Amino acid sequence: MKTEYYNAVDNKERAIERAVELLKFGEVVAIPTETVYGLAANGLDESACLKIFTAKRRPADNPLILHISHLEELTHLIQDNGRGSELIKYLWPGPLTLIYKKSDRIPNCVCAGGDTVAIRMPSHPVAREIIKQCKFPLAAPSANISGKPSPTNGKDVLEDMDGVIAGVIDGGDCNIGVESTVVDLSGNRPKILRPGYYSLEDLKEYLPDVEMDNALLEPGEIPKSPGQKYRHYAPKARVEVYFGNKDKIHQMIHERIKSDEKTGLLLFEDSMPLFNEERLSLGDRNNPVEMGKVLFSHLREMDRKKMDLILIEFEKTEGFGIALYNRLLKASGGNIFEVKL
Ligand code: TXA
Ligand code: MG
Repeated sequence: MKTEYYNAVDNKERAIERAVELLKFGEVVAIPTETVYGLAANGLDESACLKIFTAKRRPADNPLILHISHLEELTHLIQDNGRGSELIKYLWPGPLTLIYKKSDRIPNCVCAGGDTVAIRMPSHPVAREIIKQCKFPLAAPSANISGKPSPTNGKDVLEDMDGVIAGVIDGGDCNIGVESTVVDLSGNRPKILRPGYYSLEDLKEYLPDVEMDNALLEPGEIPKSPGQKYRHYAPKARVEVYFGNKDKIHQMIHERIKSDEKTGLLLFEDSMPLFNEERLSLGDRNNPVEMGKVLFSHLREMDRKKMDLILIEFEKTEGFGIALYNRLLKASGGNIFEVKL
């Protein structure tokens, strides 16, 4: 398949117009959102959504998020239990996905045969305009081949999807770079199934009884969200992550890079001058938002440089740091180590 490419930074109107046409034809189009790029199709059309699973090589038991642009669309898609109205009021549009019992309009493959559906209202202007003009919700998982890091720029989308889908809309770099926080509102007690930009503390302000699915932060546990149980966000290279005492970590990295393996480093900006090896900056060590923005694209860049091993420096913090910890846990297959004095 020839993939049509449109740059939405230079010519937004043309990019949006063609994306809408292709989506109305039942095709799959990659679109930018504020979190990561999404692989979009008409969320009410089963055969269009099945194309997403093929393009991504996604297991059929992993459900999709439906993206909407206006609140009125929500009522047709869910059985409203009145939950989450404060979250919606204050945090939508934005990097937050809510799970409800589904209405009977949702195609089976979208909810992987289950009785719930995940809904998100993105804030990215290009995504919003495309959804609005389509007049149907867009099913859109992250635009990577299953298991790989989510793409956060047009080049990374093309790496996985060129020749596989009908179109790619390039909106430049994603602002957040890490997928949305997923909250399940369908059960007795609201639960975070995937940590994201909004942390447990952020959500508690609007939903005091929300809790974290603790399996998300433990290597051996089985999480409730289907997508969290697979090896995920992972580059081809092996990954090892170190947090704790800064000087000791630098010492260890110096030891590790003496081996024959082709090793790439992801370091905080203040550590960059200490090494000469292949390395990329994670920004300010006290600002996890900077790390979130570049983490996935750096993992892909290290794969393009054909590294065998990627060593990552990390600061374990609360808030958004929890989401980063969860992604690093997956990307490294549990190889995340605390380094003490
Ligand atoms: O930021 C995001 O959420 C991005 C952008 C494109 O919107 N999308 C995204 O979709 O990350 P995806 O499919 O890569 O991840 C969706 C996650 C998966 O872990 C999936 O298992 C979970 O949400 N999920 C979706 N529907 C669910 C449901 N009904 N019940 C439980 N988990 C669900
Ligand atoms: Mg994904």
